[in-house]
Amino acid sequence: ARVRHYHFEVEYMLYKPDGSEHVVMGINGQFPGPTIRAEVGDTLDIALTNKLHTEGTVIHWHGIRQLGTPWADGTAAISQCAVKPGETFQYRFIVDRPGTYFYHGHYGMQRAAGLYGSLIVDLPKGQNESFHYDGEFNLLLSDFYHTSSQEQEVGLSSKPVRWIGEPQTLLINGRGQFNCSLAAKFINPPTLQQCQLKGGEEWAPQILHVEPNKTYRIRIASTTSLASLNLAISGHKLIVVEADGNYVQPFAVDDIDIYSGESYSVLINTDQDPKKNYWLSIGVRGRKPSTPQGLTILNYKTISASVFPSSPPPITPLWNDFERSKTFTKKIIAKVGTPQPPKNFDRRILLLNTQNNFNGLTKWSINNVSLSLPTTPYLGSIKFKLNNSFDTNPPPENFPTDYDIFKPPVNPTTNIGNGVYMFQLGEVIDVILQNANQLTGNGSEIHPWHLHGHDFWVLGYGEGKFKQGEDEKKFNLAHAPLRNTAVIFPYGWTALRFRADNPGVWAFHCHIEPHLHMGMGVIFAEGVDKVKKIPRQALTCGHTGEMLLNEGHY
Ligand code: C2O
Ligand code: CU
Repeated sequence: ARVRHYHFEVEYMLYKPDGSEHVVMGINGQFPGPTIRAEVGDTLDIALTNKLHTEGTVIHWHGIRQLGTPWADGTAAISQCAVKPGETFQYRFIVDRPGTYFYHGHYGMQRAAGLYGSLIVDLPKGQNESFHYDGEFNLLLSDFYHTSSQEQEVGLSSKPVRWIGEPQTLLINGRGQFNCSLAAKFINPPTLQQCQLKGGEEWAPQILHVEPNKTYRIRIASTTSLASLNLAISGHKLIVVEADGNYVQPFAVDDIDIYSGESYSVLINTDQDPKKNYWLSIGVRGRKPSTPQGLTILNYKTISASVFPSSPPPITPLWNDFERSKTFTKKIIAKVGTPQPPKNFDRRILLLNTQNNFNGLTKWSINNVSLSLPTTPYLGSIKFKLNNSFDTNPPPENFPTDYDIFKPPVNPTTNIGNGVYMFQLGEVIDVILQNANQLTGNGSEIHPWHLHGHDFWVLGYGEGKFKQGEDEKKFNLAHAPLRNTAVIFPYGWTALRFRADNPGVWAFHCHIEPHLHMGMGVIFAEGVDKVKKIPRQALTCGHTGEMLLNEGHY
């Protein structure tokens, strides 16, 4: 194991991710940010310098549990103070587990602004995966808007709300095509021109060059703001082997669904006609799409990469075929040998997801509380018992039993809050996420929930309202997959179990950026008294900042 040093300078820059020029958040002049690659057991030492002139920033290492280093989780107002313009924050943490991860901004809507990149952890040299592959590719998927994240943010907090709408372009490794298509000749009627590309453009697709009759590992992670995606490669089966940094029982499919916050590894065999090239496509699912597919090409090196595939790109499955989405999701089970959940839980909390109003603002709430983060980060305020920093009344652990999840809320008024679910260190926690009808009219959408600091076991998915004592009889306690992100389907519930064994304060939230921004999240904390010395850099704001001043540390 070694220490790997990185210096990240975050700044706004002009860029053309899809051929049209916009402002994005870059790192060291790159968009997406540089890929971090390490081996299990390595320490990552990343100096983050804020080169933005008017706002703070932080970076969250999505999927890394931060065992023993909760202050390095990179969540503004939760684990640390946002890094001020001109200042540098030192992230230092161990990557203890192999897998496909990513990093992204976790302050305001900076992820939507393009602050993200890949983080890959390999097995130590000399150790091999249980599956064989000859080469690998890494695809970071995102969605791109032509409105700035500031404009989106102001719209979301306006009365009445101005929704951000659908993204203009889907990006693969930060590259997409807006005003043209790589597959124009297959679009009927022809609405887009064929892209004229030389190959060096910022928006030229990254082509996957392969040799025939080999096996490749493709790492795929989604950091979309909004879009749920489906990825397919024409003519090639995808064998899923990893999900969110955990091995799964391998299974073959024609395409995969991937929600924001998830990552997968799939294997492909390049066993198709080597005199052809093939499409790799991503398309929108789960919401009525108005964004064209994102495309790139799988090139068999036996022929030129500039030869376009002779057949149309894969057709993305119907956006509202939720049964198909469930079928895919339920195929994901733990690889044999994966630790399995304790048979019993110590505490069960039910979290009802609803859209609500607050003084004319549109909010998302959990058990009728919409999360609004405090000024002082929780980690410091809990550790140093600065109790006037947040609401010390714990938020509700359930919702009225007569709540009709098939109808819009009778009383749509919500509360704004920032209370914390406090767990005993080591407690086994069940979380039942309950979906419901939207605020007006009929409908219910998918939300991918992401937990910081832990993996959870996914115990099951069900339809309608969760029935205590009955639905749990169907829980999967034998092959429950470990993950850090799980979706709730329309009008359904999802049951998760985890052990609260990582001292710190951890966000648990919908990974759809505008939903989180509208309050769709909760805060968990455990064993904060066991947290070792929090670096001073993480505490220089709010009440912890005052505390440092009073102690005369400056
Ligand atoms: Cu990838 Cu709290 O998020
Ligand atoms: Cu959501």
